[in-house]
Amino acid sequence: MTGIGKREISLRFLAEPGDVNFGGKVHGGTVMKWIDQAGYTCAVSWSGRYCVTVYVGGIRFIRPIHIGNVVDVRARVIYTGHTSMHLSVDVRAGDPRAGRFEKTTHCVIVFVALDENGRPVPVPQWEPQTDEDRQLLTYARKLMSLRSAVDEEATRMFPGSD
Ligand SMILES: CC(C)(COP(=O)(O)OP(=O)(O)OC[C@H]1O[C@@H](n2cnc3c(N)ncnc32)[C@H](O)[C@@H]1OP(=O)(O)O)[C@@H](O)C(=O)NCCC(=O)NCCS
Repeated sequence: MTGIGKREISLRFLAEPGDVNFGGKVHGGTVMKWIDQAGYTCAVSWSGRYCVTVYVGGIRFIRPIHIGNVVDVRARVIYTGHTSMHLSVDVRAGDPRAGRFEKTTHCVIVFVALDENGRPVPVPQWEPQTDEDRQLLTYARKLMSLRSAVDEEATRMFPGSD
């Protein structure tokens, strides 16, 4: 780690027997927890602030993770708003004997940086450096506009609280 402004982090560990679901593979909720942990570490490393999750979207479980697999959870900043950071998170896993990783899960997760009083606070701006970065920025913007339509529909269907 090199301190604030670090754009990308990876967490790497073994899938343990305690992570198992009823089918003998890693529980989906466990994978979501890993995604949140990697995202949190990345958002805090980028902003130097305490951060909270405000949105997790487009999560896709592509293939199962087996107990005993090495798991690599990579989170990187792909877009910054005023107080929010949009991160792309890829989960890859593989049998350590084979030494090969395959992508198992992908999602975009949004964090907001908070000040000492729990109020949103501005974050450093991410400037894309490469063609891939620019494509990821476009992807994040596209998801934002799709999300507005989904949020409108959800608010119409499930207005307010009970
Ligand atoms: C984070 C929180 C304080 C923000 O409060 P708020 O009144 O929504 O604040 P704002 O309207 O100023 O929004 C702050 C940022 O969040 C973004 N945001 C809010 N809801 C969002 C959503 N559903 N998807 C993406 N971004 C969202 C806004 O776009 C804004 O980003 P910007 O400053 O980059 O433009 C509040 O939403 C909260 O406490 N949420 C619960 C967080 C939580 O408990 N998470 C789970 C455990 S960590």
